[in-house]
Amino acid sequence: MHKLNNMKKLIRALFLTQVLVSGFYSCKNQEEAKAESTVVEIDRELVVNMEDRGIKIQPTMYGIFFEDINFAADGGLYAEMIKNRSFEFTLPKIGWVEPNSDRHSYNNESGILSVVKYSEEGTNHNFARVEVKNDGGYALINEGFRGMGIKEDAQYDFSVKAAKRSGDIQKIKLQVIDSLDNVLGETSVTPDSDSWKTYESTFTANTSEMKAKVKITFEGEGEIDLDMISLFPQDTWKGRKKGLRKDLVQLLDDMNPGFLRFPGGCIVEGRTLARRYQWKKTVGDIEDREILVNRWNTEFAHRPTPDYYQSFGLGFFEYFQLSEDMGAEPLPILGCGIACQFNTGELVPMDEMGPYVQDALDLIEFANGDTNTAWGQVRADMGHPEPFNMKYIGIGNEQWGPAYIERYKVFEKAIKAKYPEIIIVSGSGPFPEGDYFEYGWKQLKQMNAEIVDEHYYKPPKWFRENADRYDSYDRKGPRVFAGEYAAQTVATASPDNKNNWNAALSEAAFMTGLERNAEVVHLTSYAPLMAHTDGWQWTPDMIWFNNLESFGTPNYQVQKMYATNAGTDLLKITEGGEKIIGKDGLYASAVKDAKTNELIIKVVNTSEAGQNLSISVEGGNTQENVDVLIMAMDDLEAENSFKEPMKISPKESSATIDGGQLNITLPSRSFSIYKVKI
Ligand code: AHR
Repeated sequence: MHKLNNMKKLIRALFLTQVLVSGFYSCKNQEEAKAESTVVEIDRELVVNMEDRGIKIQPTMYGIFFEDINFAADGGLYAEMIKNRSFEFTLPKIGWVEPNSDRHSYNNESGILSVVKYSEEGTNHNFARVEVKNDGGYALINEGFRGMGIKEDAQYDFSVKAAKRSGDIQKIKLQVIDSLDNVLGETSVTPDSDSWKTYESTFTANTSEMKAKVKITFEGEGEIDLDMISLFPQDTWKGRKKGLRKDLVQLLDDMNPGFLRFPGGCIVEGRTLARRYQWKKTVGDIEDREILVNRWNTEFAHRPTPDYYQSFGLGFFEYFQLSEDMGAEPLPILGCGIACQFNTGELVPMDEMGPYVQDALDLIEFANGDTNTAWGQVRADMGHPEPFNMKYIGIGNEQWGPAYIERYKVFEKAIKAKYPEIIIVSGSGPFPEGDYFEYGWKQLKQMNAEIVDEHYYKPPKWFRENADRYDSYDRKGPRVFAGEYAAQTVATASPDNKNNWNAALSEAAFMTGLERNAEVVHLTSYAPLMAHTDGWQWTPDMIWFNNLESFGTPNYQVQKMYATNAGTDLLKITEGGEKIIGKDGLYASAVKDAKTNELIIKVVNTSEAGQNLSISVEGGNTQENVDVLIMAMDDLEAENSFKEPMKISPKESSATIDGGQLNITLPSRSFSIYKVKI
């Protein structure tokens, strides 16, 4: 015992001398400096074998799960700044205020807004009728999505549909104002017709403001009808008119995602069948996309959001287009005739499944069909005659039990009969174990399902302890889509959950197991994706944003490190011939990238101690220079924020391979990637 301690002390002293004298990697920031001074307790010998195992890392391995939760679409990715622009919310004046009006008096002196129905039929039911009694005195204010983010010198597009009814209103003026009524930018349009007509105008903002509002006033008196009152920044993703928020898409694109799953999540299912997501209602002219209450609006008593609706300005066409922009496979998930089983669990009778199945077939035609097909023509009319080359479709989000399997079979039969090449994603329910999960998997396996979606919202510890989850999965069975997962620091969906380093590091450790099992795990995605700081319902989330800024959490940084270093072929990395799955907090996986000719080693150290690794590379030759990316932080509670968006983010450095051996020091609580040319 005494001898062993002496030996340990000697190794530690030798190691620290080496670090101090030569440095195994260059130290570029405080965290690294701190890590270097950590007492190194553990010395390990790892071996990477570069022989080809014939196991591919699928290009879809690391992707994105998008759901309109937490204001991710309206109020987030979709850059429209006016809330309830077409007066279609259940209470149709939500979002609009008439500051000079007494809402209890119909003899209002300045003017009055009433909401009128075009018709119960169709999709755009309502419009606003404004009676201006007092020239210049009447105003309508829109509060936006918890305010509007306005940027100095940026240009904005205002548009409105209007029809003059009586009197003579000569101008509709739009001003962007701050809380003190200062005007940050303004423009106007001149209505000249008693028929519906769209008017457009642009302006430049003179000041930046996070919580601006829009004020609409009128010149002249009379009655005028208004609809689709809209305000967009011009500087959108790819400069598309009425497009997507650039900074948010940039964060997604930077991840180099292998796929984009949309539109959810439970939002697919609806709390009732009547309120399920119907993709056909989200394509075509924007004003004809029928608004639907967002299922998350009152789901959680702790975060009610009664003003949360879906305008579908971000609809299925836009999702396909976004996938294409990012080089990601589009992966739409469709409802399967079951409303959310956490809510009503309403079922479509088996003999009434026809329209639901037809929706799936029509979606494939919309995405891939020739322009001489009905739905291919709709796509072409929207500006994309080329097919989107969709390869995957998901049937059901998080359903369970015999009702799901029974309905899934109907879809599978119809889709495979018409489109045998389409790969179908099925689901194993909301939990990663238990009766629903076992039943679902058993049935789906018997049916030779192609890909099964699994969801897990679990404590960080679970992630650290389950890095071997897929080691025992049948290599000949269905492939796995780890479609929704995230470490929950308090409890599933607790409002107190944090996107802290503990959660992110635990996910990084777990992900070595996803990678090591690339033979069965073909797609993976963190969930949920995005949250507005003032409009969220569910936490943790990968990206946080307000009306002007956004940042990636440590969890985002972990996902990005994996996705941008995914590689193409799985290699073996072992310690004493064994997998490295958590002994003393060490996790590792290795891949080759045949496109860049690189060996990529990922190592996670969740322990408090630094680890002194000596990694031998067998079965191939490497160059000497190793590029290193390290994310390290001793404080497990640490988070990124608007103030310090990159507090926990990878730092670059370098190391060398000497005599086929890479000697490195893993900082305590760190995730590192080592890349070397083969
Ligand atoms: O990601 C949030 C929700 O969690 C998803 O909508 C649902 O599929 C899961 O229960």
